[in-house]
Amino acid sequence: MLARSRNALYETLRDMFVAEKDEKIVGVGGLHITWDKIAEVRTLAVDKNATRQHIGSEIVTRLIADGKELGVEKFFTLTYQPQFFNSLGFEIVSKDDLPQKVWKECIDCPKFPNCDEIAMVLVE
Ligand SMILES: CC(C)(COP(=O)(O)OP(=O)(O)OC[C@H]1O[C@@H](n2cnc3c(N)ncnc32)[C@H](O)[C@@H]1OP(=O)(O)O)[C@@H](O)C(=O)NCCC(=O)NCCS
Repeated sequence: MLARSRNALYETLRDMFVAEKDEKIVGVGGLHITWDKIAEVRTLAVDKNATRQHIGSEIVTRLIADGKELGVEKFFTLTYQPQFFNSLGFEIVSKDDLPQKVWKECIDCPKFPNCDEIAMVLVE
């Protein structure tokens, strides 16, 4: 996962869903609208003591349902976890397939321009 400033977290707070178990937050994920009908699934993390319990899947499923209600038609992610996203119907694409708008935030990334994340798009 890429580091985000506290300011960036507050600015995108309304993008976020959390998962709770026994009154404790065990997972988080966000859906960020980047362009017309296009949104990014990002900032996804599950407590390391609670992985492989389908919490991450549930968060992504809710994010996609939320996006669809808002009219989003294309969901993408940039990830180091292709197997997880593949289990949810995402497929690997070239980064060039994602709209230019996506790269606006990349300029602020410490890894720019040597991005090693894998681009994936939800195929339904
Ligand atoms: C990636 C992450 C969010 C997955 O969350 P999770 O709740 O453990 O995932 P789920 O239990 O919903 O997994 C669903 C399916 O994804 C696949 N999967 C999940 N984690 C996997 C792993 N480490 N290796 C291979 N496949 C994996 C499996 O097919 C799994 O189904 P199964 O357990 O029935 O076989 C979690 O491991 C995590 O927080 N990792 C660290 C942060 C990170 O890398 N976030 C992604 C940034 S985009």
